[in-house]
Amino acid sequence: MLLQPPPALPRTAPRGIFITGTDTGIGKTLTSAILTKAWQGTYWKPFQTGLAEEAGDTPTIQHLTGLPAEHILPPTYALQAPLSPAAASVLEGVTLEPEQLTLPEAPHSPLIVEGAGGLMVPLTDDMLMIDLIAQLGLPVILVTRSGLGTLNHTLLSLEALYQRRIPVLGFITNGPKMPENSRTLERLGQCRALHHIPAPPSAPETKDISRIAAQIPPWKSLW
Ligand SMILES: Nc1ncnc2c1ncn2[C@@H]1O[C@H](COP(=O)(O)OP(=O)(O)O)[C@@H](O)[C@H]1O
Ligand SMILES: [Mg+2]
Repeated sequence: MLLQPPPALPRTAPRGIFITGTDTGIGKTLTSAILTKAWQGTYWKPFQTGLAEEAGDTPTIQHLTGLPAEHILPPTYALQAPLSPAAASVLEGVTLEPEQLTLPEAPHSPLIVEGAGGLMVPLTDDMLMIDLIAQLGLPVILVTRSGLGTLNHTLLSLEALYQRRIPVLGFITNGPKMPENSRTLERLGQCRALHHIPAPPSAPETKDISRIAAQIPPWKSLW
């Protein structure tokens, strides 16, 4: 048996999309910047950790998209340690209540929600990131590396999503162009390859985001 059957996608455009990935550092923020710019939507990262070491993804999105501040919502939980939300919150003595989270009003539709790490990152002792995705009720875009290792990580992530009946709009590959991997993932993962983000020689800048955003189909055309 291959993967279980994928859940059906909504027939009309939902309120937004949840951007998850096969790992941390895989390109979720870069992808979120491209999609927020392309769709002129609203970005929200509910759980931000690691602020002791970096400014976090929300200012990065502001910088990379160049969009006015009203396109960006602040994180609900902002934690210092570069650890999972569950571990960072214990260090800070903060109580997280992810089971209380609902979708915020987005001044500009769609809402682009970025996770933290991958699907199985613990938010609390009894809730994982994938549980939050199911609770928020948004379909998912899965960001994956394009090259070696992607088949295993991407298929594992898809299997977990399908098992929880979370619909997946598609996957976005990041890195050197490896079309054979994308074709294999489409076939075995029963999932659409939405886009490929190439690896430029240097860190992506605002102009790169605008250029790639121009290649993304309109939000409403995807449903
Ligand atoms: N295609 C790419 N080309 C060059 N640098 C990239 C590319 N994708 C990601 N990066 C860099 O890798 C780092 C991690 O990417 P990011 O989008 O922040 O990942 P995540 O949000 O999944 O942790 C960032 O510094 C980003 O600029
Ligand atoms: Mg990120």
